[in-house]
Amino acid sequence: MFSVRALLIGLTACVGVAQGEPVAVKIDADKPGAKIDRHLFGQFAEHLGRGVYEGVWVGPDSPIPNTRGIRNDVVAALKELRVPNVRWPGGCFADEYHWRNGIGPQAERPATLNPNWGGVIEPNTFGTHEFMDFVQQIGAEAYISVNVGSGTPHEAADWFEYMTTDQPTTLAKQRAANGHPEPYGISFMGIGNESWGCGGSMTPEQYVSQLRIYARYTRNYNAKHPTLKIAVGPDTADTGYTEAVMKAWKERNWSWDIDGLSLHYYTVGGGWPPKFDATGFGPKEYAALVKHTLRMNELLNTHVAIMDRYDPEKKIALVVDEWGSWLAPTPGSKEGFLEQQNSIRDAVIAALNINMFARKADRVRIANIAQMVNVLQAMILTERDKLVLTPTYHVFHMYVPFQDATFLPVTFDAGSYVNGDITLPQLDAIAAKGKDGKTWLALTNVDPSAPAQVELTSRAKRAVGRVLSAPKVDSVNTFDAPNAVAPKSLEAKARAGKINLKLPPHSVAVVALEE
Ligand code: AHR
Repeated sequence: MFSVRALLIGLTACVGVAQGEPVAVKIDADKPGAKIDRHLFGQFAEHLGRGVYEGVWVGPDSPIPNTRGIRNDVVAALKELRVPNVRWPGGCFADEYHWRNGIGPQAERPATLNPNWGGVIEPNTFGTHEFMDFVQQIGAEAYISVNVGSGTPHEAADWFEYMTTDQPTTLAKQRAANGHPEPYGISFMGIGNESWGCGGSMTPEQYVSQLRIYARYTRNYNAKHPTLKIAVGPDTADTGYTEAVMKAWKERNWSWDIDGLSLHYYTVGGGWPPKFDATGFGPKEYAALVKHTLRMNELLNTHVAIMDRYDPEKKIALVVDEWGSWLAPTPGSKEGFLEQQNSIRDAVIAALNINMFARKADRVRIANIAQMVNVLQAMILTERDKLVLTPTYHVFHMYVPFQDATFLPVTFDAGSYVNGDITLPQLDAIAAKGKDGKTWLALTNVDPSAPAQVELTSRAKRAVGRVLSAPKVDSVNTFDAPNAVAPKSLEAKARAGKINLKLPPHSVAVVALEE
């Protein structure tokens, strides 16, 4: 019998589950773990391609139904996800963003360039007030990344004073004149983005010297709404930033502090640039991409171990504020717009990543999938007035009960799915005690060729929930067929203390256990 722990330690060491034989699953309700922070289900909206313009912002004069320029259909869909926070304005864009361009009368805002993403014109019509209006409309909190690469500590400090002070300073008066007399509450501040790369190519030492200054002078003046500060951390497996930032934090003095360290890891599947097709692939490419996504666990282990050395009390959160699949762009889409379709494979990838974060919920407390609308592994795709919910959207929706739930260990035999020289666990599972008092179980059948039978030993009388599956390994939702991949209800009654659930190939299920 393999436990979840064994699954994580040695994915390739799992024994096979005989086809058709049920996998025994047991939830250990007596050993509750950490809170699965709702902020693990965060989103990311960068000024990139059609992520913000078109995807969120259409302007108040658009024929597309909107509220103060923000599209109503997208807001309604995101509200269903209970999005806890949205990271903005980037990404690489953040380190070239000058916030003053995005305030005041829209007609007077400068047109600037977006050199990172297609070199297109940035109209600056979506700025601070529009972003805050958007997060308030969807009921989320704001995660704002300040410009370290090409900005100054002064500019970043002014931005936070503008947004958060209730004192009648010149900047606060300007905010009021721009329509918002009340100070905004900002939950998270990113101090730069990928400062080892697009954010300034800084060595860890160079970044740490910037970090000390920015962490000192970017203040939140809204006492009712604390801001957690998140430092740039590792690129994938490179531990240079992890060591340097954590060491600096450990040796800090009274004048500065941080609350989180960021990790970025994309599921690419091969070399750079991303080559894996988003559609038209078979089980071989499916297996290769799932294998690549499971590398997240190894990365979490590596960086958490370093953080534990400097911070055994786990004060600093590991913040996976960019994750998801990065595939070959949709044929015919604009260069640099990072548009890709989203299949049932993405749904499996989403569930596996959330499960990996949840198992380390004592350290991994914030995560942001990249990105929310029309970019990379999106929740939503839009085309003029049409909208389609992706398979990844449905996973986030099914996992809502896990937000702020208490982790419960699950014992199960992960089994294996073998494709060529790739061996993957066949089954993955997490469980939690929800804020609603119910016990929730999430199951993923990774195997794209065979269903999985699960036999849960439980006091519960029945399991009720939903399962997301699809006819083919590359099934997607399109504007013409928006419900090709949509959750269906799943229900099973207990017999002699056992609940049997059948999971279709490449599927994700979430059920509540009712006693
Ligand atoms: O999400 C797209 C880009 O990926 C972000 O702008 C950057 O931070 C990362 O390299």
